[in-house]
Amino acid sequence: MKASKERGERLVCLTAYDYPTARIVDEAGIDIILVGDSLGNVVLGYGNTVPVTLDEILVHVKAVRRGVQRALLVADMPYGSFHTGADDTVRSALRLVKEGEAEAVKLEGGRKELSSCDGWSTRDRGDGSYRTHAAIDSPAGRLPGAGKTADAAKQLVDDAYALQDAGVFSIVLELVPREIAQMITESIEVPTIGIGAGSHCDIQVLVFHDLLGMAFGKLPRFVREYANLRETITDAVTRWAEGCAQRNLSF
Ligand code: KIV
Repeated sequence: MKASKERGERLVCLTAYDYPTARIVDEAGIDIILVGDSLGNVVLGYGNTVPVTLDEILVHVKAVRRGVQRALLVADMPYGSFHTGADDTVRSALRLVKEGEAEAVKLEGGRKELSSCDGWSTRDRGDGSYRTHAAIDSPAGRLPGAGKTADAAKQLVDDAYALQDAGVFSIVLELVPREIAQMITESIEVPTIGIGAGSHCDIQVLVFHDLLGMAFGKLPRFVREYANLRETITDAVTRWAEGCAQRNLSF
């Protein structure tokens, strides 16, 4: 990913939560597949991401793993799995890598969260066959107006440098003003992964269900639907049900 940034290549990342969508997304040539904690919103119906557990993420990571041949597979660390100290963080990350066979993990945080990740990037299996990498969202990036004042913008930039120095392999910028996202992208060496943060980020990420019109509720303003699968599925299901009612299965 870093080499792609250096070469000016634009990579793309999409979420997936199950075997069939993982296969479709992987076969479509998407570079990075994220089993995000958005699972709580778009698949499990929780209405937010807080209730998602490590065990739930793991079930979905395993399903996605079986469908992915070529993309980099990243697993989200859900809320609560990295808030109780470095040992717990490493334990959670290792479950995602060892049991789920994820190639990287992502967690949400800035400088404040670094202490709970202390030392984890060096605790690999010892034979160099994998490492647990972190991509960290800036939590400030999730707040309305984040980065909109000079102070908030400086905090985001300082977070980005601190995360880079800590060894993260990329940084997610979510809903960060495009000018700040551009400034961060051009200043740091690790790739930025943008969502609602303008087109200058090195990598763009989107939630599968938002892209394909499968989400319920109001879409974020930056999302453009490339299909409306909800309508397509409703139409197919309704036609099949009507055919059954009419004892006509020929259409
Ligand atoms: O959980 C998720 O899908 C994410 C993306 C929105 C970046 O974190």
